[in-house]
Amino acid sequence: MHFILPVLATLAVVSSALPAHTPYTITNHVVHEKRNSIPSKWARRSKMEPSAKLPVRIGLTQRNMHRAHEYLDSVSNPSSKDYGRHWSINEVTDTFAPSEESRSEVLQWLSDNGISSVKSGGALHTLEFDLSVSEVERLLKTEYWIYEHDASGDAHVACEEYSVPEHLKRHINIITPTVHFDVKPTRHLSKREWKNPADPLTGSHPYHEEYQEGPSAQADDDDLQKCNDAITPDCLRAIYNIPQASETPCEENSFGILEYTPNTYVPSDLDLFFGNYSTNAIGARPLNLTENNGTLDFSDPSDFNLHGESNLDFEFAMALTYPQNVTLYEVGATNTNTEADIDFVTTNVLSVSWGYDETDLTPAYMELLCNEYMKLGLQGVSVIYSSGDNGVGGNGKTCPDGRFVADFPASCPYVTAVGATQLDTSIDDYETALANGEQIEVAIKSQVISGGGFSDVFSIPDYQQDVVNSYLNNNATRPPYNSSVYNNTGYARAYPDISANGHNYAVIVGGTQQVVDGTSASAPTFASMITLINEERISAGKSSVGFLNPVLYQYADEIVKDVVSGNNAACNTNGFVTGEGWDPVSGLGTPKYDALLEVFMGLD
Ligand SMILES: *[C@@H]1O[C@H](CO)[C@@H](O)[C@H](O)[C@H]1NC(C)=O
Ligand SMILES: *[C@@H]1O[C@H](CO)[C@@H](O)[C@H](O)[C@H]1NC(C)=O
Ligand SMILES: *[C@@H]1O[C@H](CO)[C@@H](O)[C@H](O)[C@H]1NC(C)=O
Ligand SMILES: *[C@@H]1O[C@H](CO)[C@@H](O)[C@H](O)[C@H]1NC(C)=O
Ligand SMILES: *[C@@H]1O[C@H](CO)[C@@H](O)[C@H](O)[C@H]1NC(C)=O
Ligand SMILES: *[C@@H]1O[C@H](CO)[C@@H](O)[C@H](O)[C@H]1NC(C)=O
Ligand SMILES: *[C@@H]1O[C@H](CO)[C@@H](O)[C@H](O)[C@H]1NC(C)=O
Repeated sequence: MHFILPVLATLAVVSSALPAHTPYTITNHVVHEKRNSIPSKWARRSKMEPSAKLPVRIGLTQRNMHRAHEYLDSVSNPSSKDYGRHWSINEVTDTFAPSEESRSEVLQWLSDNGISSVKSGGALHTLEFDLSVSEVERLLKTEYWIYEHDASGDAHVACEEYSVPEHLKRHINIITPTVHFDVKPTRHLSKREWKNPADPLTGSHPYHEEYQEGPSAQADDDDLQKCNDAITPDCLRAIYNIPQASETPCEENSFGILEYTPNTYVPSDLDLFFGNYSTNAIGARPLNLTENNGTLDFSDPSDFNLHGESNLDFEFAMALTYPQNVTLYEVGATNTNTEADIDFVTTNVLSVSWGYDETDLTPAYMELLCNEYMKLGLQGVSVIYSSGDNGVGGNGKTCPDGRFVADFPASCPYVTAVGATQLDTSIDDYETALANGEQIEVAIKSQVISGGGFSDVFSIPDYQQDVVNSYLNNNATRPPYNSSVYNNTGYARAYPDISANGHNYAVIVGGTQQVVDGTSASAPTFASMITLINEERISAGKSSVGFLNPVLYQYADEIVKDVVSGNNAACNTNGFVTGEGWDPVSGLGTPKYDALLEVFMGLD
């Protein structure tokens, strides 16, 4: 949720003044949300103009949230009799809608304070009204300031804490605009120099005939060693045993990828990429859905910052799953309601390669969003997020006061967080190693380092309790840091859940071949595999797989190859180390497509 309130000072003064003696002055206020620090790169500037108007939104407490875990587990735990029996949107809305009591108690408080023209918005019945800064300050016992972003100069209106009457605390979820900043999500991607003229592995396009590169490269076109130079869709098929997609996908299957405006794919780049690696997909385009005033802007096609992320996501996801339709959710920069910004998703899989630092957001807001992912899981959507590119350092690569920074939404227990690996360059015959079922990857160690660690907000979900505690209690892997550095109790959500190659992906941006690194590459690759599995399940009359983690952890012995080399160093530490079984660098390991398919096809 992002608030941008331009030209506030010129707005009209609200007419309805507060009555002289208002009940709230005698009620006990208690602090509802409080920031310990403002997000990095923002500075407090001046007091807000008292007469400026604020669009106030009160999110009411949702009912039944204490049962969220139980509900989601019942449809996603392979041991549950209701596995795969996903909920309809109406069931979800009805179950979690705020109670009539919450609504009337809060409305009464507003009315007692002279606020009567309140609108009710969205599935969550958010209460909406405009009020002057001075009145909101009295109502919430707070102070509004203007904050400025160092780099962009963007202004933002916020307070650092606010209070509500004690008897209403349990009825109110969050109120905006208050302590939440319009922090921009960061893409998990870095550009590398494309320096190798050798043709990377490609199946659907002939190699340049003159290509020769010494003894190891003169073999057949499928020489996997070339994947060291650049990862192509065929490299991924070979590494993970991913088949070609069915030529006749079922109409019920769907695959969505989310991007933030102004980042968009470039149609001509898609075709160049498909021309190289997936000729049958030439001309295919994402289904475009814009949300929150998102726009598709194809100008400046060679600007990597505008198109690198989306081109990577769509080039690979479409090549791996074509002729499956892939949906683009293009999300605009502003979103002015207190509902989470994800409730428009209706595809079976959602892949997102963007994220925030937990330290930039507030716990209440992260819980709100995380619960929206839970609702998607209930409806059968697999929500897949990249885990970040800077190891334990968060997007800013800094650890304030020496504390590791977790990535959100990767740290939400209701998403599947994907870390990054790369090919192990010490192996000189990948083909033989793969034929022997060996792992040929290690944790990524380029300028990108796999994001991973422990949440400071979310507690550990039961699906990962055993493996996380094994990691923490194993002499070979036990992290050498105390509780000032990370939540080392074994009670914090740990991530990533799984990982996939994220090094040297061959992408086309602005008509030229480039290579990129990042968990941004890993997430759509894994999401493509899940989409192909959904295709098989739906064709067999089964449901989409939905929330993945209970199955991934329960069947880890079968469905992954362990990653046992590397770490996720940052902030002048070694970060965490990989080890046998789950670790906070590579998660459970890298997926084996065929085994994953077999497990999911074996479930009802
Ligand atoms: C891929 O396409 C680009 C742009 O058309 C071209 O320059 C490059 O040589 C191609 N690469 C391969 C491996 O075919
Ligand atoms: C893909 O989307 C197009 C346009 O909406 C539709 O006509 C087509 O049937 C879809 N294909 C599949 C396989 O769902
Ligand atoms: C999505 O929008 C772009 C730009 O308008 C267009 O080229 C493309 O065909 C659209 N995709 C579909 C499936 O209609
Ligand atoms: C989208 O733009 C319209 C018109 O500019 C505006 O009225 C509306 O508030 C915007 N919606 C969001 C979610 O920002
Ligand atoms: C660690 O995480 C758990 C679960 O979220 C929490 O209850 C506990 O207070 C945290 N410990 C510290 C020291 O922050
Ligand atoms: C692990 O380390 C502890 C203390 O250093 C030691 O007592 C224990 O025997 C070790 N366990 C194993 C399995 O090596
Ligand atoms: C953690 O270790 C550092 C350095 O030894 C020390 O300054 C700090 O007080 C310790 N924190 C806790 C909670 O023990």
